Amino acid sequence: MKLTKAIFPVAGLGTRFLPATKANPKEMMPIVDKPLIQYAVEEAIAAGIRELIFVTSSSKRAIEDHFDSNFELEASLIERGKKDLLEIVRGILPEGVSCAYVRQKSPQGLGHAVLCAKQLIMNEPFAVLLADDLIDGGQQSCLQQMVSVFEKTQSSVIAVQKIPPAETKKYGVVDVANAEEKIATLRGIIEKPDPEKAPSNLGVVGRYILTPHIFSLLEQTSQGSGGEIQLTDAIASLLKYETVSALQFSGKRYDCGSKLGYLEATIAYALKHPELAEEFKRSLQDFVV
Ligand code: UTP
Repeated sequence: MKLTKAIFPVAGLGTRFLPATKANPKEMMPIVDKPLIQYAVEEAIAAGIRELIFVTSSSKRAIEDHFDSNFELEASLIERGKKDLLEIVRGILPEGVSCAYVRQKSPQGLGHAVLCAKQLIMNEPFAVLLADDLIDGGQQSCLQQMVSVFEKTQSSVIAVQKIPPAETKKYGVVDVANAEEKIATLRGIIEKPDPEKAPSNLGVVGRYILTPHIFSLLEQTSQGSGGEIQLTDAIASLLKYETVSALQFSGKRYDCGSKLGYLEATIAYALKHPELAEEFKRSLQDFVV
């Protein structure tokens, strides 16, 4: 099984970022000069993905526009001789990569959003990337590390990281035999447990590689935590039929769905931006007390 398709669920309400997200998609918020969704798309393409499937809603049209060509802008950049900018704009979507859009009518949860893409995935394995989890994998992106595991196991892989015990209510938390192993086999998974009920200190972050069996399980999944159809609950059911691996990836993850995570990512990415790094480092000194 080869992995060529990825789902980008972008139909959430982004309430933690209101009022910024009232009319603008959270996934279009920039980290320095690129929107979050573009980082996720670049990570997917670098890992071999060729078909991008966005699960959107009515307020997310800017995402479609971002990955479409903009004739007026390109004509203007050509006329003004701005070749570098033209290359940046045209390079957003490389040759051979296609986009498809499917609507989630109302935000009924991540599991429901993934299910909306069923017809486009058909019977193939696929990746799911949540753009608000920005992951700097360093040498090798998080999804690329997961693809390496998938190529060996040919079964589902989810990305996990160590989380503070007090924060289990924010994550799906996995049950594995040995939480110190980089690649562990899942025994269970539970969405947003209370700290005393958490089976480990490993929380799921927004990268998944799943087999298509998940769709029939999602169809049978009823509302879970927060009244939403949870992908975590369907993965828990998948364990009865297939092996699922948890990968403790190498790299730094920023929770850009939260204000603090977003600000940290902005600083980290500005500090390694080729045009900005030096000057920004100097300006930053003025803010450090
Ligand atoms: P989040 O829970 O982080 O996003 O979902 P949210 O609901 O938009 O944000 P808050 O909590 O209200 O601030 C993770 C990802 O899943 C998508 C979101 O767009 C986000 O990228 N999602 C979530 C959907 O596509 N549909 C849903 O019903 C829920």
